Amino acid sequence: MAWTERQRRMLAEMGLPPWLAPAAAPDEPTDAPAPEPAAQPAAPSPTQPQAAAPVVPAPAPQAQVAPMGAPANRPAGAVAMLDWTGLRDAVAACTACGLCESRTQTVFGVGNRSAEWMIVGEAPGEQEDRQGEPFVGRSGQLLDNMLLALGLSRAEGAADRQVYIANTLKCRPPGNRNPTADELARCEPFLVRQIELIKPRIILAMGRFAVQSLLRSNEPIGRLRGRVHHYQGVPLVVTYHPAYLLRNPLDKARAWDDLCLAAETAAAAAAAAPAPG
Ligand code: URA
Repeated sequence: MAWTERQRRMLAEMGLPPWLAPAAAPDEPTDAPAPEPAAQPAAPSPTQPQAAAPVVPAPAPQAQVAPMGAPANRPAGAVAMLDWTGLRDAVAACTACGLCESRTQTVFGVGNRSAEWMIVGEAPGEQEDRQGEPFVGRSGQLLDNMLLALGLSRAEGAADRQVYIANTLKCRPPGNRNPTADELARCEPFLVRQIELIKPRIILAMGRFAVQSLLRSNEPIGRLRGRVHHYQGVPLVVTYHPAYLLRNPLDKARAWDDLCLAAETAAAAAAAAPAPG
């Protein structure tokens, strides 16, 4: 298969030799860590967070994933009212699930709070738990390289060039196991509020747990990628999780296509937006 110029640039950015031609599309690739037990679907509707301090989401029922396109959880009560400082404090003090007992610290998010791009991953790993920042391990290096290929970065910069990165879970699951449905549901109001505050032009959902939370879908990534979805009116593109790509490097070309789709969608949204002032 011949590589396009665009793919060559992406491969160079990701440190891959161009002779690694993309494989035929796998039936239903999954980005789940191989040894982990199958994840439960995210619960569709956590109950109201408690108004009393500390502000934490209240217990949520276990439930099936709602139909595709069903409204996602809205942060309710106290979480819905929080500004950035309050939200960060609420996350740091959260004891809504058992992950608070094993975490070193919470991992809130990183990047420009006015970013046009919002990237949603899964959960902190060991290094993220230690450093308090999402995607600082090997997956993060790959993510940074992919973003760099598009001229995007988590580092200081203009809002249209800088991303905001957050996870569905703010605490590390022990041993990097998959998040449970209950953990996802309890943590979700924080992510939802982050998205509300950022008001991104594009959301990039990486991996099946981000997709379960934001799209209420258990469809494999391979079936959801390649088109534009919406989350609360914000265009959303689905792609593979970087950890999956590290294990399945031939799918990096597809991930690059997803990033290009996201970039085109963000540019279209920016062009359609009313001029400031
Ligand atoms: N994987 C994720 O989904 N998030 C992180 O922060 C690190 C690894």
